[in-house]
Amino acid sequence: AAKKIPLGEKIDLEPAPRVQVVGRVTRQAKQSKLLFITLRDGTGYMQCLLAGDLANTYHAQTLTLETSIMIKGQLRAVEKGKTAPMNRELQADYFEIIGKAPGGDDAITNRVPPAGAENAQARLDMRHLAMRDEEISNVLYVRQAVEHAFSTKYWDLDFVKVSPPALVQTQVEGGSTLFEFDYYNEKAYLTQSSQLYLETAIPSFGNVYCIEKSFRAEKSLTRRHLSEYTHIEGELDFITFDDLLTHLEDLMCGVLEIVLAHPRTAAMIKKLNPDFTMPVRPFKRMKYTDAIDWLNAHDIKNENDQPHAFGDDIAEAAERRMTDILNVPIFLTHFPTEIKAFYMQKDPTDPRVTESVDCLMPGVGEIIGGSMRMDDYAELMEAYQKNGIPSEPYYWYTDLRRYGTSPHGGYGLGLERFLAWLCKQHTVRDTCLFPRYMGRCKP
Ligand code: 4AD
Ligand code: MG
Repeated sequence: AAKKIPLGEKIDLEPAPRVQVVGRVTRQAKQSKLLFITLRDGTGYMQCLLAGDLANTYHAQTLTLETSIMIKGQLRAVEKGKTAPMNRELQADYFEIIGKAPGGDDAITNRVPPAGAENAQARLDMRHLAMRDEEISNVLYVRQAVEHAFSTKYWDLDFVKVSPPALVQTQVEGGSTLFEFDYYNEKAYLTQSSQLYLETAIPSFGNVYCIEKSFRAEKSLTRRHLSEYTHIEGELDFITFDDLLTHLEDLMCGVLEIVLAHPRTAAMIKKLNPDFTMPVRPFKRMKYTDAIDWLNAHDIKNENDQPHAFGDDIAEAAERRMTDILNVPIFLTHFPTEIKAFYMQKDPTDPRVTESVDCLMPGVGEIIGGSMRMDDYAELMEAYQKNGIPSEPYYWYTDLRRYGTSPHGGYGLGLERFLAWLCKQHTVRDTCLFPRYMGRCKP
């Protein structure tokens, strides 16, 4: 009898066991009368050898990539000097085709163009087949490991998970990136951030978090903007701005430790990003005004090709150059009030700026945006007005300042940007199962 095993399962090879495996053909090579097949099933890869009569059968002779197949045989250690996944090889004595894949013009290698910038769009059209590729699968595997690690770390920190709605009637991050739709004859939006709803939950639960989709109608095509992304958001009650920064370091380093303690995930990260090093605590902290000076000292211009001045946005290109030069995680803090969202708490020592933070990572730039929240009722009413936001739809948010307000703050981390950094991917598009951005809503 043959023992059914997943391809990645560790099993004693002394004496060589008879096993049965299933998977899809990922590679194949003919060597005179031998047929070498590499199978893939999501748990790992296995080299299988068809020899003699078995290699001469019609189905072996016409085998195509991506065909699903069942194979039985003896699993043996490969000879020294030969390489095979997990240093072993299945010497087949029986096989059955389960689902034959097309060859010729329709072969997967002809449907999915090879990796490379010029083929990026064509490969995304074929993402449903391209994702079988080892590198893409590894990034997506790391993605779920990272998401799980965030949940674990939050559990350790006693944060309570809540599930805010995706269909809302309030904006959080400005009107220009809202996806609006008709909700039973009322105007509604796809949520840009769950922040305001997280704030409603802290009086019930204390510190809370959520992992939900956020939506942005970004009208530009960049390597780090998506229309739909996974947003990891936390909100902390009764804290100072400094507490918020310390928590962020703790969270990021904690998540990385959990992920790297998992051998399969750690091996994938090593392969994807061989130069990865654990960030050193405390992270570099830099105030916005110092960043402006730093950019000017390095002759990095603003979007109008002028030297940076107080009040300028630090655009993606400038931000990226800064992170590439400094090459460490940076907490960029105290952004001017005018360029930040309505809800941000002003710095009590300098009301021109907010108690806000962006966490910047080399190669990507901003991966987290956070702040202390305006907790005074009158100040919030004034902020709605200054920002041209009608206060009525926000009655529930405003009430939080009336029924036991508190110094509190939180943040949002873009999972895809975190992964682009961790897995050294050129664009966040490569970290999604099926990316959504301007012009792409398929497959
Ligand atoms: O800086 P943002 O806009 O902040 C907020 O939404 C806050 N309300 C979050 C909060 O305090 N709870 O977005 C937070 C993060 C960014 O740093 C970035 O990582 C990610 O969300 N992000 C995007 N990721 C991919 N595509 C986009 N279009 C993104 N917009 C923001
Ligand atoms: Mg931001």
